[in-house]
Amino acid sequence: MTRLAGRTALVTGAASGIGRAIACRFAAEGALVVVADLDDGENSARDGGAPTARAIAEAGGRAIFQRTDVTEESEVEALFAAARQASGRIDILVSNAGTFRGNPILATTPANWDADMDLNLRSHYLVNRAAIAAMAGEEARADGIRGRIVNMASQLGVTAPPGHLTYSVAKAGIAQMTRQLAVDYAREGILVNAIGPGRIITGYHPGEAEYVASGTIDAATAYSLARTPFPRLGRPDDVAGAALFLASDDCTFVSGHLLMVDGGWTAY
Ligand SMILES: NC(=O)c1ccc[n+]([C@@H]2O[C@H](COP(=O)([O-])OP(=O)(O)OC[C@H]3O[C@@H](n4cnc5c(N)ncnc54)[C@H](O)[C@@H]3O)[C@@H](O)[C@H]2O)c1
Repeated sequence: MTRLAGRTALVTGAASGIGRAIACRFAAEGALVVVADLDDGENSARDGGAPTARAIAEAGGRAIFQRTDVTEESEVEALFAAARQASGRIDILVSNAGTFRGNPILATTPANWDADMDLNLRSHYLVNRAAIAAMAGEEARADGIRGRIVNMASQLGVTAPPGHLTYSVAKAGIAQMTRQLAVDYAREGILVNAIGPGRIITGYHPGEAEYVASGTIDAATAYSLARTPFPRLGRPDDVAGAALFLASDDCTFVSGHLLMVDGGWTAY
């Protein structure tokens, strides 16, 4: 369990769901994890950023929590400054913070569009920009690599499900930004990849809490289950395993890739 020993990993949206699973997995593999999230856990029923960092420490890992709104450039700068102060170097970024929003076009307004793009696309630009600036200035390691970036896209950025305009456009944008940065920074030894999760049960879609607690299934969850070739829905740890590969020394020549973690949804 030392695949990330000696590395520092910054994970946004790490207070809950997929980001929390990635933070815990990376810490268990020896990374110092910078848990970044808007939610500090003080006023929330969700897991929270500070409780996530505490849980990592209680399990014998190393983590710090930095409350951050990833849509604010100044807060992203403060996040990277705190990470560098804690560790001296940022080896891994997982740009994961986001939320599931989307409507058919006539149900949107330009203001909705801007708000959704602000969180689900522009914030990833801000965080990637800061990470590349930091990584490009580091010494390359023995394998020539300076850093690894993993961006959280979605199966909904590859397919166009009914009524998810802003979400699917933003997630497609993340995948394309990933390809562009992979090409532009390959010579600097920065590997940039994305993950496209399918339906992962994290509790934030309607009906998921009931599904987790009692197996009671609402129509949307039943549809996802029936549509996914693998005979179950995804779990945060499924995504954490893929993120670990892309963040680890096993990933040496994979860049610009969108790794689907969707139980075969997009293959069907
Ligand atoms: N759950 C799924 O089925 C699924 C599928 C495909 C993609 N995704 C993507 O995975 C990522 C994580 O989703 P999740 O299911 O774990 O959701 P989640 O709601 O459990 O976690 C998202 C986290 O992001 C944080 N966050 C929201 N706005 C923020 C901001 N402005 N600044 C900092 N942090 C902020 C939240 O506080 C939360 O902790 C998202 O990008 C989501 O779009 C999820």
